[in-house]
Amino acid sequence: MEPVKVGLLGLGTVGGGTMNVLHRNAAEISRRAGRDIVVSHAAAREFDPKDIDGLDKVSITNDAFEVVRHPEVDVVVELIGGYSPAKELVLEAIAQGKHVVTANKALIALHGNEIFSAAQAKGVTVAFEAAVAGGIPIIKALREGLAANHIEWIAGIINGTGNFILTEMRDKGRNFADVLKEAQELGYAEADPTFDVEGIDAAHKLTILASLAFGIPLQFDKCYTEGIGKIEAQDVEYAEELGYRIKHLGVTRRTDTGVELRVHPTLIPERRLIANVDGVMNAVLVKGDAVGSTLYYGAGAGSLPTASAVAADIIDIARALTVDPDSRVPHLAFQPDELSDFPVLDMDQIETAYYLRLTVEDKPGVLAKVTGILGESGISIEAVKQKEPPSGEPEVPLVLLTHRVLEGDMNRALAAIAAMDAVRSVSRIRVEYLD
Ligand code: HSE
Repeated sequence: MEPVKVGLLGLGTVGGGTMNVLHRNAAEISRRAGRDIVVSHAAAREFDPKDIDGLDKVSITNDAFEVVRHPEVDVVVELIGGYSPAKELVLEAIAQGKHVVTANKALIALHGNEIFSAAQAKGVTVAFEAAVAGGIPIIKALREGLAANHIEWIAGIINGTGNFILTEMRDKGRNFADVLKEAQELGYAEADPTFDVEGIDAAHKLTILASLAFGIPLQFDKCYTEGIGKIEAQDVEYAEELGYRIKHLGVTRRTDTGVELRVHPTLIPERRLIANVDGVMNAVLVKGDAVGSTLYYGAGAGSLPTASAVAADIIDIARALTVDPDSRVPHLAFQPDELSDFPVLDMDQIETAYYLRLTVEDKPGVLAKVTGILGESGISIEAVKQKEPPSGEPEVPLVLLTHRVLEGDMNRALAAIAAMDAVRSVSRIRVEYLD
């Protein structure tokens, strides 16, 4: 059978890794795909040829549109990242009747609805396994392995850079900027690393997971996003004393009234497997009604792990080249005309437990007043700890864990607490039990 010809856009961390995986495992990949997969064309402005295998057989240009429009190319693999020109290149590839593989979560989260609709009209596939959780085949799991389930919720550590930073800070006491720099050098961080630390990258990925799980269109603009920048060393310490770990989590849950879609630092009981996922590793916990809880773990970033997902998508496309387009696995797991308009909930409407840390004057009646305000708001307290004041300080940290409560009720209670004369500062981190 004729080989499948691939046009690769980008020869950076993931592009170079994809060349290397396709080259090193060519024989096995061919046995799996039923035909050879050959990178015939590539577009790149800057790359380091000494780290990339098999480039001698590739025609390289700096004009990505030339590759997209080349008549020999069957599959366009977009590994440039960003919104533009990635979007234009992907839409042009579709218009040319070519299948597309992309690792670009920002592109899919923001423009996926338009891209999938164009692909469907042309009868081509846009595959994006590498867009979520690097090398973990979570998209295949949701679209195929769990297709019989009513998915109830998903919780994931889905940004490797953020998890690497939190782990290094906790275990080695390293400072934020140093660890971020190392993550950039290792090729984990986004081109704009604020995407990693402010939770935007995780929100892109969670948006995709929610659509696959619940059959709703991609709605990145409705995802609540909070980064890791405000986590303090004392919160990590107090959380551990209470039996929890702080992780930056993406959570999406189906409720009776809508879908929760949120990314934020979260306390998780330390006995949960996912609480022990460290470094650049990602993990996604999926709760289905039939299967129960399933956990997917692996490298969430990096050259070869991400290339593993990109190459798997190319193989899937090679296997299905002759399949009737309507019989292929739908892009968002549900048939395109079966997507629902079930709403994404505002944060005020979500329900979760809370860890609260207040800095208060150390004098009689303060704790009673704080707990009184929480009680009046219907917020039930699970644990309270008053910490020793730092030496010579007149103020003490007061740490509370609450039961589950509506975020809107908690916001009102915290505003009343923050207005107390004796309260200097209030911070909160959401808590998920994931049981
Ligand atoms: N910057 C991303 C991360 C890369 O750190 O997880 C993989 O999407």
